[in-house]
Amino acid sequence: MNDLDRPTKQFPPVSIHMPVLLAEVLDGLALQIGATVVDGTLGGGGHSRAIAERVGLRGRVVALDRDPQVVERAGAHLPRNVTVRHASFTELETVLDDLGIQTIDAMLLDLGLSSDQLEDDSRGFSFRSSGPLDLRFDPTQGEPAWELLSRLREKELADLIYKYGEERASRAIARRIVQTRQHDPIRTAAELAALVRSCVRRSRHHSIDPATRTFQALRIAVNQELDSLQSILELLPRRLRPGGRLAVISFHSLEDRLVKQAFRERELWQPVTKKPILAGETERALNPRSRSAKLRIAVVGGNSP
Ligand SMILES: C[S@@+](CC[C@H](N)C(=O)[O-])C[C@H]1O[C@@H](n2cnc3c(N)ncnc32)[C@H](O)[C@@H]1O
Repeated sequence: MNDLDRPTKQFPPVSIHMPVLLAEVLDGLALQIGATVVDGTLGGGGHSRAIAERVGLRGRVVALDRDPQVVERAGAHLPRNVTVRHASFTELETVLDDLGIQTIDAMLLDLGLSSDQLEDDSRGFSFRSSGPLDLRFDPTQGEPAWELLSRLREKELADLIYKYGEERASRAIARRIVQTRQHDPIRTAAELAALVRSCVRRSRHHSIDPATRTFQALRIAVNQELDSLQSILELLPRRLRPGGRLAVISFHSLEDRLVKQAFRERELWQPVTKKPILAGETERALNPRSRSAKLRIAVVGGNSP
């Protein structure tokens, strides 16, 4: 049996994902009993559950995720006041219209991927994964990363890896991908990780895997992550009540830059803190994912479009 044809591990019924900066999000969103809140990135449901408790049964949480598996699993594990929808947060307005909700009090975006997705061998998010290099949050839509790798020309690959991965060795990596795919198609995450490691030296100062930036670039590209973030930042002021709050947790500088720039539009947003909020020492020790998390919170101004 070919590696790609073998049955993949079942998605576990319980999430292993630990929500990051949970207390900081709950305080930063200034949640009141009875509030209506959108969690745009449900994942393992840790933030949604805690927000649902904070707003009480008179309040409501609308939780969205692009990943159909996340939505399937979430139903059984969330309190009654959480409504789950399979949707991108860019579809916020359609979802709210369907539910008859005009404006919301707060929104959370906890960007990137969950530990559940990372551990699922069939998705290709982990460098160790021997399953297909897919990297889509919603595997029912768009193009998997392995297809992108086999289709793009060398220059397009190099530009993509540079733009979305800020990888200085992008040209060397693109050249190696094109050379390799002539005789061996690159189909798994483990194959791509090994290829990148063979042409990027591990920095003596940084402990991150040399493949990190290339994987980040491909993931951003197949999911159009930066476009989605830009789009929600633009449309949200129409649906947040004046004085309502947005919290965004980002995990790399490209995302954080977009949020920072959006919050600079002072007629629309008033940032709650000047600098992003980072995880404290205890959380960093308990949950390594939290080490690269940056939380920004802003209040929407009264004169939104
Ligand atoms: C870091 S996890 C969220 C974890 C969650 N806060 C928790 O406490 O478990 C990010 C989630 O966002 C989802 N996601 C990524 N982009 C999305 C988008 N544009 N719309 C909706 N969900 C998205 C991913 O599928 C993933 O499940």
